[in-house]
Amino acid sequence: KASVLDDWLSHSPIVPVITLESVDQAVPLAKALFAGGLSVLEVTLRTPAGLPGIESIRATLPDVIVGAGTVMTVEQLQAVQTAGAQFVVSPGSTPELLSAMIHSELPILPGIATLSELMLGYQMGLRRFKFFPAEISGGIKALKAFSGPAADCSFCPTGGVSPGNLKDYLGLTNVIAVGGTWLTPADALASQSWSTITDLAKSACALASS
Ligand code: 3PG
Repeated sequence: KASVLDDWLSHSPIVPVITLESVDQAVPLAKALFAGGLSVLEVTLRTPAGLPGIESIRATLPDVIVGAGTVMTVEQLQAVQTAGAQFVVSPGSTPELLSAMIHSELPILPGIATLSELMLGYQMGLRRFKFFPAEISGGIKALKAFSGPAADCSFCPTGGVSPGNLKDYLGLTNVIAVGGTWLTPADALASQSWSTITDLAKSACALASS
């Protein structure tokens, strides 16, 4: 499961973290991000539009990889699988959720902010984690420190990642991708400024490969 996710992220290592206000935004937004070079998206369950949004992206855009984010409970995990999510992201880790995530058929990125949380997943066999909230949990320095004891683990930092620091994060050997909300500003979504979103995606890709 981990290698599929590694493969997707190696092609598209910047993951927009999306909160949909309405399900109608899902497909045009995903198209706009894809047009800007981003093919792996995380749609969160922070609003009721999240779940049907995942469903409609899956049904409409076969080239986009859509994962579910902000999965907090086993019930939500089941719901996102039914909706067709292709990977699952949680903001944090509990033994119950980790075990359900491991037994699901989907690639997973459980959230951790400390070594103890990482070790909970590590002892269950996990080696890929979301590092959240990255900037206030130590950011780049913390990830460098994790690479000592957890040398075989890789991370997707989110929370405070921006155009100003994404290249530094992506330059770390234990970072497989970065994520964040800066690519999908609420005002651009509300005004359906899809070209603004494509431009944000393009400039993030350009920064990553600069
Ligand atoms: C997430 O869940 O990944 C975060 O909400 C992203 O945080 P950001 O708004 O700082 O990008």
